[in-house]
Amino acid sequence: MSRIFATLNDILPQARRGGYAVGAFNINNMEIAQAVIEVANEMGSPVVLQTSEGAIKYAGMGYLGAIARIAAEQSAVPVVFHLDHGKNIALVKAAIKSGLYSSVMIDASSLSFKKNVKTVAQIVKLAHKKNISVEAELGAIPGKEDEVDVKNKDAFYTDPEQVAEFVRLTGCDAVAVSVGTAHGAFKKVGIAGSLDLKRLKMISEAVKIPIVMHGASRVCKKLLNRLHNKCSVLRDCDWMKGAVGISTAQKKRAIKLGISKINIDTDLRLAFAVGIRETMLADNKSIDPRKLLAKSKTEMKKEVAKHIQIHGSVGKA
Ligand code: G3H
Ligand code: 13P
Ligand code: ZN
Repeated sequence: MSRIFATLNDILPQARRGGYAVGAFNINNMEIAQAVIEVANEMGSPVVLQTSEGAIKYAGMGYLGAIARIAAEQSAVPVVFHLDHGKNIALVKAAIKSGLYSSVMIDASSLSFKKNVKTVAQIVKLAHKKNISVEAELGAIPGKEDEVDVKNKDAFYTDPEQVAEFVRLTGCDAVAVSVGTAHGAFKKVGIAGSLDLKRLKMISEAVKIPIVMHGASRVCKKLLNRLHNKCSVLRDCDWMKGAVGISTAQKKRAIKLGISKINIDTDLRLAFAVGIRETMLADNKSIDPRKLLAKSKTEMKKEVAKHIQIHGSVGKA
């Protein structure tokens, strides 16, 4: 494995010890990757660029890997290139084999404890041979974002009694937990009204490896209002009404309890959409993609900066 990228083991253990978290941002194209990497460098923060199975279907592993590689080469901060929610074993193995990723997530959380352990342990063995770090998930986080889709009835919280054994048996480097967050923009729907911090504390006492929070977007009210402002012209954005994210206060408490990697995708999507909608409304004659996407990048950069501040990782690179 090339040393251009850091692994989770290079950046997360000190985050956990130091009481801060590192942002893991989902990338699907060059503009998103640039927005994340520029802000991480400006703020001196380590960062994780991650691609979902959906992102790989959209852009291909090769393109995304090349974008991430350039981003890391031009960075003064540690950059991890990570596969997010690898549910398809063949794809996780392909990511390991590709030499593009420095880290993978194997998400076997929908399986029984025993099968989850067996699947993760198998991936850990392959990945560690190549110095690739592995994130696994115990518990199942609800919500839907394209390829990642867990119905509320199938979601369940992480059992603090099982987590130490899970980590010991699998040898994973970081463990994602289900403690009340949800993927997507509707985190109040389902079990995500507020975080179960008592449970997180028990998990954190049981394991010393870094703990990962998924479904952590804040779903900024101001951005939502800007999206809805334009309803009369662009219509059909009503479906976002009632969207709600995880509060800054809850996230800060979770970080103090051992959360050291925080996954963000929805907030980038929201910022991207607001930027492009407002651009189209202000100048509906433009056909230049560079002009059409400029404001989206600016809006995403503001979101990334906000998250890095909340995570407390400024200057930790
Ligand atoms: O956690 C899930 C990510 O946000 C991925 O979403 O499958 O739509 O790319 P996606
Ligand atoms: P959000 O939907 O809250 O942005 O969560 C993203 C995520 O967990 C990616 O793995
Ligand atoms: Zn996730």
